[in-house]
Amino acid sequence: MSKEQNSLMDKIVSLSKQRGFIFQSSEIYGGLKSAYDYGPLGVELKRNIMNEWWRSMVHEREDVTGIDASIVMHPKVWHASGHLAGFSDPLVDCLISKERFRADKAPKPQKGDELPISCVDKGQAKAYKEAIKKRFEIELRRNGKTLEGLRVIDEKTFGFFESDSDVSANTFPYAGYVGPTFGCPFLSEERQFNLMFRTQLGPVDVLNSISKFMEDNREADSKTIREGVDSIVKESAVYLRPETAQAMFVQFLNCQQSMSMKVPFGIAQMGKSFRNEITTEHFIFRSCEFEQMEMEFFVEPGTQIEWLDYWRDKRLEWWKSYANHPEKFIYRKHDADELAHYADACYDIEYEYPWGYDELEGVASRTDYDLKKHAEHSGAKLSYFDQQKEDPKTGKMGWRYTPYVIEPAAGATRGLLVYLLDAYHEETVKDGKGNDSTRVVMKLHPRLAPIKAAILPLVKKEGLPKIAREIVSDFFKAGINVKYDENHAIGKRYRRHDEAGTPYCITVDGQTKEDGTVTIRDRDTMVQERIPAKEALRIVQDRLVKS
Ligand code: GAP
Repeated sequence: MSKEQNSLMDKIVSLSKQRGFIFQSSEIYGGLKSAYDYGPLGVELKRNIMNEWWRSMVHEREDVTGIDASIVMHPKVWHASGHLAGFSDPLVDCLISKERFRADKAPKPQKGDELPISCVDKGQAKAYKEAIKKRFEIELRRNGKTLEGLRVIDEKTFGFFESDSDVSANTFPYAGYVGPTFGCPFLSEERQFNLMFRTQLGPVDVLNSISKFMEDNREADSKTIREGVDSIVKESAVYLRPETAQAMFVQFLNCQQSMSMKVPFGIAQMGKSFRNEITTEHFIFRSCEFEQMEMEFFVEPGTQIEWLDYWRDKRLEWWKSYANHPEKFIYRKHDADELAHYADACYDIEYEYPWGYDELEGVASRTDYDLKKHAEHSGAKLSYFDQQKEDPKTGKMGWRYTPYVIEPAAGATRGLLVYLLDAYHEETVKDGKGNDSTRVVMKLHPRLAPIKAAILPLVKKEGLPKIAREIVSDFFKAGINVKYDENHAIGKRYRRHDEAGTPYCITVDGQTKEDGTVTIRDRDTMVQERIPAKEALRIVQDRLVKS
């Protein structure tokens, strides 16, 4: 990051604390690494962002319904989704398909064995061939949906062989196994995968069982002890969800049937997710506890790419519509070598952060992977029957299929950081004595702003506070969050509300008592107008609707 960019982040962190947007968690005890508390203004801003998302994704759509599921779900959910596979097992990622698997369960081709990479279809084979060429500079031969040319040389090496040649053109380190689904030998290092936070559910104290096991196995080696302890812990283990998405797959049938939803339709959820992130960075950008806003949109197989483009555009427009700098929001298509093995396409919506473009939301085409996995593990029939459609296989009316899924998955807390960065504005203005001074303004979109209007009696006497409080009461009755503020000189109060992002300041002054008018000051232009006090609520309401 350049000095200037660094200083923008520093200014956001400092203003967040000073004005009450975001505080370090447990600060008086020295703070907890990468955990943050949303302060009096932050909690309002976060709720406003999430409420706007809910309004556009659920309330304003007939084809989307919402849920609010438990954070702790049945552990089998995480078995089926693949999140649990490696909690205490060595895990490896396939560098090409992104498949994550247990090294100890993987197929182990031996010296001299061919290493064909078997893809789902020709399209995937083409994409993987390109990805391997780009990353490892070898051109595998494509035979339908199989990629050929790799062979095990010895326990530690595999090679690329031109056709009809026994001499390898390139060699690579061999892990001794290949990915179970595709047979790919291009793999990451083995590592313990510790993404989910684990806790225990139930009345039994696992420490007692562990102590007993240790006493009974004093002579055991470390592998036996680890496996024994692991199996005791697993008996009552539950996990804090690492994404909100899985509940929408698990509750697919209940939502579809209770609301008589017809494909295409979506299920939306927003709320907390937890990840034991190895790297936490950039203030609240990547933290261990965060909030997500996700929607699973179930579509007919074959229509997924059309819907993917639709949701990519819709979501990008949504982010831009609240921004001062919409040009800083872009989308980026994932290269074939970035795609998760269950996805057939994916876009990231990115924002130009001070450190460069980075992810804000993912919009993925997740195929029928998740519903099929949950159907397989639970035995539930997670499919959809369309009476009006012909079954492409039988040619008869009525088609039962597993829907494909498009998933716009956004970070709410990451979105909050984006809107703070987007809103930060400094300008030079004259102070009361005619000297230059810096005015800091948080140009938050009025519908996102934590406080919609500050109601300010010019002085704390002459009946002005009473009139101001009556105006406050009108706003509260209409459900609009305003703040009564009588402390400090009026100029100081204006500056304080500029930094809080309050779009309007309504001032009650001497003239109010004479003609019933107040001033309304616009945060961005600083222009003040006189309006009837009785009209203040309607005027602010109109401006909020039109903003
Ligand atoms: N269900 C798919 C899913 O969770 P993801 O890309 O891992 O996809 C979606 O997460 C969004 O959640 C990201 O684009 C990001 O905005 C947010 N997010 C993910 N991990 C985060 C973290 N550790 N801290 C803050 N936000 C995070």
